[in-house]
Amino acid sequence: MATAHGCSAVCPGYSAGSISESDTEFFAQLTLAGPPCNAYGTDIENLTLNVRFDTMNRLHVHIQDFANQQYQIPESVIVLDRGSGADKKTSSLNFDCTHSSTGGFGFKVSRGAQVLFDTTGHPLIFEDQYIEVTSSLPINANIYGIGETPDHFRRDPNNTTKTLWNRDAADPFRQNVYGSHSVYMELRDDQFHGVYLHNSHGMDIALSSGMIQYRTLGGTADLYFFGGSTALDVIDQYTELVGRPNRIPYWSLGFHNCRYGYKSVYEVDGVIANYSKAGIPLEAAWTDIDYMDQTRDFTFDSINFPLSEMQRQLAYLHQHGQKMILITDPAIQVNMSYGPYARGHRQDVFIKNADGSEYIGQVWPGYTAFPDWFAPRAASWWGDELGRYFEQLAIDGMWIDMNEASSFCTGSCGSGKPESEVPPFPWTLDPPPPHRPLSTNNTFLVPPYAIHNPETELSDKTIETIARHANGVIEYHVHNLYGYMESKATYDFLVNYRPNRRPFILSRSTFAGSGALVSHWTGDNAATWRDLHLSAASVFDFGIFGIPMVGADICGFNGNTTEELCARWIELGAFYPFSRSHNAIGMVPQELYRWDVVAEASRRALGVRYSLLPYFYTCYQRSVERGWPIARPLVFEFPSVPAVVDNDRQLMVGGGILVSPVLVESATSVDAFFPAGLWYDWYDYSVIKGADDNVRLNAPLEHINVHVRGGKIVPAQVPAMTTSRSRENDFYLIVAVDKHGTSAGDLYVDDGETFDTASRWMQFSFANSTLKIRQCSGQYNVAQPLSMLVFLGVSAISAVTINGARVQANVSVSNGSTIVNGLNIDLNGELDISFV
Ligand code: GLC
Repeated sequence: MATAHGCSAVCPGYSAGSISESDTEFFAQLTLAGPPCNAYGTDIENLTLNVRFDTMNRLHVHIQDFANQQYQIPESVIVLDRGSGADKKTSSLNFDCTHSSTGGFGFKVSRGAQVLFDTTGHPLIFEDQYIEVTSSLPINANIYGIGETPDHFRRDPNNTTKTLWNRDAADPFRQNVYGSHSVYMELRDDQFHGVYLHNSHGMDIALSSGMIQYRTLGGTADLYFFGGSTALDVIDQYTELVGRPNRIPYWSLGFHNCRYGYKSVYEVDGVIANYSKAGIPLEAAWTDIDYMDQTRDFTFDSINFPLSEMQRQLAYLHQHGQKMILITDPAIQVNMSYGPYARGHRQDVFIKNADGSEYIGQVWPGYTAFPDWFAPRAASWWGDELGRYFEQLAIDGMWIDMNEASSFCTGSCGSGKPESEVPPFPWTLDPPPPHRPLSTNNTFLVPPYAIHNPETELSDKTIETIARHANGVIEYHVHNLYGYMESKATYDFLVNYRPNRRPFILSRSTFAGSGALVSHWTGDNAATWRDLHLSAASVFDFGIFGIPMVGADICGFNGNTTEELCARWIELGAFYPFSRSHNAIGMVPQELYRWDVVAEASRRALGVRYSLLPYFYTCYQRSVERGWPIARPLVFEFPSVPAVVDNDRQLMVGGGILVSPVLVESATSVDAFFPAGLWYDWYDYSVIKGADDNVRLNAPLEHINVHVRGGKIVPAQVPAMTTSRSRENDFYLIVAVDKHGTSAGDLYVDDGETFDTASRWMQFSFANSTLKIRQCSGQYNVAQPLSMLVFLGVSAISAVTINGARVQANVSVSNGSTIVNGLNIDLNGELDISFV
């Protein structure tokens, strides 16, 4: 690859000297090896290289300016795990660098004989506003991650440029949207490894034949390498660094309904009632900005969504074991008679212009100021406003949107305007005004290197890059952190306001480590077949990013959905970790009960989901403990099967459930890939002998194909219409045997709500006609019995003994599988269940 500027020949690179080494660290000084090339800024002459073996499987390579003037993400914003330090002799990764006094500095990170990252031969460019790091890759490398961007899961190794600049954009294929995650995973020779660049600046990360190249608009080259070697290991190692996914309330795994454009609280009442009438589970009713007075945060429209009626609706939902979630945007209407603004203004919490005046953009309520999360009193002001709001209406979770931050004009467009000029809402949309002239002489507005942000300038649709934060730092350096910092202030409020309750927050904008605070949806997709397909890839991406609780707007946001698309979408969406239907204003209604066939598809698919809630929750606990994603592409589980490297058409829940959705119009069957092994149909228990090949499955419109993987024991519970009712029902186990007649699995349980809950991990194994239940840790009392066992691939069971004693049970056989019913087993104990 030529460097971005095509002048690598004249960029001198660096020479390395003053080397010192210990068992866990390596240090060198780097000096510019020739006349500066000043490719896109000013070359920095003196750098330091610090290498540290943080853990056995994580290596940290940090190249920074000796003078320490480049902006770096402060520890007060994101705390990274430092690791206890590992001896390089025992580390799974090796570090080497070429160090001569005449230039040519480069380094290699390897794992055994494999060189995973190799910058030798690619001169490092380190300038105040441009850093370029290039590494060789194998031709046709299997690269996953780097986003947020709607794209196929396996990135095109020959032609990909991912831009990281958080942007409010509806669904642009392969372009940057709401969040920034500069982490990738590579699969090479059946093993995974990972690389993360810790840098908040706008950047491009480009893949072209045999190379990966980072081009950042500043900061430092702060790289972390993860030795893997499975996909789950890499994510474990990455989330150990940036933060483990937060603990979620159990109820958030239920199905959520939302739309933009509900006209009144009564319309939402009707929606809640209609879900119930249709027998479709509804866990949470969401309302968009429609509930607000003039779309201002923390207010209620007194005519259509009066507070007293919202309180009544919330009480109704709670009586029925359901929840309410409302939206909040960060932008605050500039209006001294609006309390949140007046109080914030007095406490000096808003972002400023260079001259010290308040920066004023435009969002839904007209001219708005933006909380400056760096301002000393911003988080306490935000918490205070949220507290006042929650005192009025004690909603169950928060939806924080528009936090890239989104603004509809470029620059401080409302500065100096009288309050009376606040445009009324809803606005009549005039044709966009001509773009302002580019200030090419201000390199923080128009940097010399243009990342591939598809707007005229970086400041478009967001806060201007020269706007000032309270710590003196301009937006240019910290833009990508805005949503993360709002998430943190919101999370901190909720854990203080409701001590010991796990918050549920859904955030549109995210950054590395956001998973420790929030869940995510993939933003404004379109009601198209392409977006249905791409949704799986985005869900997988966020699994890598350490935000496993993720989903796309089911049935599609923009554009009118159709009966067929909506049916297919809920069939897949029922298996997103976060499952919510959401619709844009003005589009045809798409609540799941609107069409008979969609209602039927929903009952079936959500019926499977709700049966699997104990399994989803167990998988999520693995996310909390190890970062492991719930929703996985086949390649995570079958890395040595070449045919699955780019499979984003099927989704696994944990390692045990395979979902094969229909992603194209008018299809009545689906060609699904089955890796070698036994796979059992969820509904009729019939078996597919997987042979690393496609199998054509029937897929009538209301049907979603779901298979249980032989060798896995999947815990389930009889489903109900809410998660709390489901939790009251009996447990059952799906024991799916492999070709040796064995299987294994586990179950995690706790109260699903509090931080200090008791918990319990138990393990199941099946071999030689005996199912063993073993307790691993914890004291949580499981009140519901295990009443049924479904043995997939096991027939000819006639009698059942528990710990040697014969018990009464109903045994029936279907399609070569056996269902043992009528048991009453206490899951708090250890026992052996045997069959003859
Ligand atoms: C943004 C959100 C969308 C929401 C709308 C109105 O477009 O992404 O989900 O419905 O704003 O609040």
